[in-house]
Amino acid sequence: MAGLIPQDFIDDLVARADIVEVIGRRVQLKKAGREFKACCPFHDEKTPSFTVSPSKGFYHCFGCGAHGTAIGFLMEFDHMSFVEAIESLASSMGVEVPRNESDRPARRYDELFDLMSRVERFWQQCLKENPAAVDYLKQRGIDGSTAKRFGLGYAADAWSAVLDKFGTSPEAIDRLLAAGLVIRRDNGGHYDRFRDRIMFPIRDVRGRCIAFGGRAMGDGEPKYLNSPETVLFHKGRELYGLFEARQALRQIDRFVVVEGYMDVVALARHGIDFAVATLGTATTADHLNRLFRLTENIDFCFDGDRAGKQAAWRALETALPHIREGRQLRFVFLPDGHDPDSFVNAHGADAFIEALDGGVALSEYLIAELAQQVDLDTVDGRARLAEIAKPLVARIPQGVYRELLIESLAETVGLTSGKLEKMLGRGQADEHGRPVRRRPRRGLSGPGSAGRPSVVRRAITLLLNHPEAAASLDAGKIAAVSRPGIDLLRELIETAQQEPNITTAGLLERWRHDEQGRHLGKLAAVEVPGDEEFDPAAELADCLEQLVLAGRRERIDFLIEKQRVKPLNEAEKAELRQLR
Ligand code: UTP
Ligand code: MN
Repeated sequence: MAGLIPQDFIDDLVARADIVEVIGRRVQLKKAGREFKACCPFHDEKTPSFTVSPSKGFYHCFGCGAHGTAIGFLMEFDHMSFVEAIESLASSMGVEVPRNESDRPARRYDELFDLMSRVERFWQQCLKENPAAVDYLKQRGIDGSTAKRFGLGYAADAWSAVLDKFGTSPEAIDRLLAAGLVIRRDNGGHYDRFRDRIMFPIRDVRGRCIAFGGRAMGDGEPKYLNSPETVLFHKGRELYGLFEARQALRQIDRFVVVEGYMDVVALARHGIDFAVATLGTATTADHLNRLFRLTENIDFCFDGDRAGKQAAWRALETALPHIREGRQLRFVFLPDGHDPDSFVNAHGADAFIEALDGGVALSEYLIAELAQQVDLDTVDGRARLAEIAKPLVARIPQGVYRELLIESLAETVGLTSGKLEKMLGRGQADEHGRPVRRRPRRGLSGPGSAGRPSVVRRAITLLLNHPEAAASLDAGKIAAVSRPGIDLLRELIETAQQEPNITTAGLLERWRHDEQGRHLGKLAAVEVPGDEEFDPAAELADCLEQLVLAGRRERIDFLIEKQRVKPLNEAEKAELRQLR
């Protein structure tokens, strides 16, 4: 997010900027079909490989790989900062960058922040005045000072408490809608999203409330209701409790990642201030990047049940590319039936810390989990272990950690690490038995795809080139599919749906401050057919379908494979029947 410049202003600016004009004023461009070419201004060359695409709003050099939007070009070529580039672009287009007194009241960030904080205070006041809600918290072990620290509140059992108090003009109602606090009825009226719920404010790094989670007081469904994605709130990036942890601790030595709001609050109540929770999503790369900026030690703590195991495995998969020397990732499983909240209330803080310290290291967890799927007493089983470890090991960056992991794997399967490494990188080991790193190929193909474009990559490429094709997609379909890059794909789909006019360049700007943004630039540069027969929406829908199928197939294979080793439990059997 660009400080105080509203995202929708940036989207709009980038969509309307004429990149050919911006670059053409600084570099001599020649028309070549639908695009423009030049000798690249960023490296020395005799034949032009620098290409500008007016329809995508994007430039790309096939020689040195430089690429970006009009904003990116100004930053690189004129050495401007991000904000300077926006200001320069805006002024060349004759528009003013909206500042404090903007002409777009409903979408201004600071007004939305202000609204959120007023609603937050309102709900805190309602909590004080509602004995049933206070009792509920007390009965769950939350005392007044903890509730205060997390700013907990209560949304009354009413359809228009927030609406009546804050929606006093059409503009004010627009703001409530933009903040996700009210919902529009089909007949044009509105009603409060959160009713009869304990409210948990979700804060950004600066402590500003950007969203809420609401816990039903009784057995109401859903148990937790969260704010929708808004301009302030991107679910896959935020961690509940991160701001509060940083407030409480001068120095952060470790984090424990838990699943629920209540877990964070209950742990804090017991003096464990370093817990954070994902918001009803799997752990994402964004989450990990955020945490690793503050500490090297992260424990994932999951419930001991099957869902917990599944969540842990997904967290492991997401974490693999982030492993480095010095970073310590551990997996902690609580006894069956417990979550961190119930555990710390039953056994106390010391026992919880002890449980954390008894967690298994990522490498250990990975090997143990794989070993469970095969019969280590047979040669076949050991070979199979190496086989299933291969794609996982491939995602760990090269370095000491990976070497050590291969060593322990080798020990487990009874091979020398040289031999195992050969197996892991079969057919590609160099003369010393070291696996040769596959170079990513130009174009759509990527790692792990053996030369074929991975479906996720293809979908992302299509989407970047044809954002409008996202309109009719159902991203919910792939909610349970796990694949590298799939979180990003889902976020791209959601963004393109929320902003139907967003361009390729607009999407790239949204991800500018994101590690993955760099990869997006490369994919945006891939040529996708633009003729009339080509139907990007159908292609995209097809990709999603393939992902759903592949996810299902993998699960079936896994269950069948597992069945060979040990009998499936009832839930797994039922799942297998259903999948087939
Ligand atoms: P759990 O169902 O494990 O609940 O959801 P919990 O944290 O133990 O809650 P209590 O103790 O019953 O109050 C864990 C997290 O999953 C998300 C929420 O973020 C929740 O904190 N969730 C759960 C939802 O978003 N919606 C739901 O309906 C349920
Ligand atoms: Mn719980």
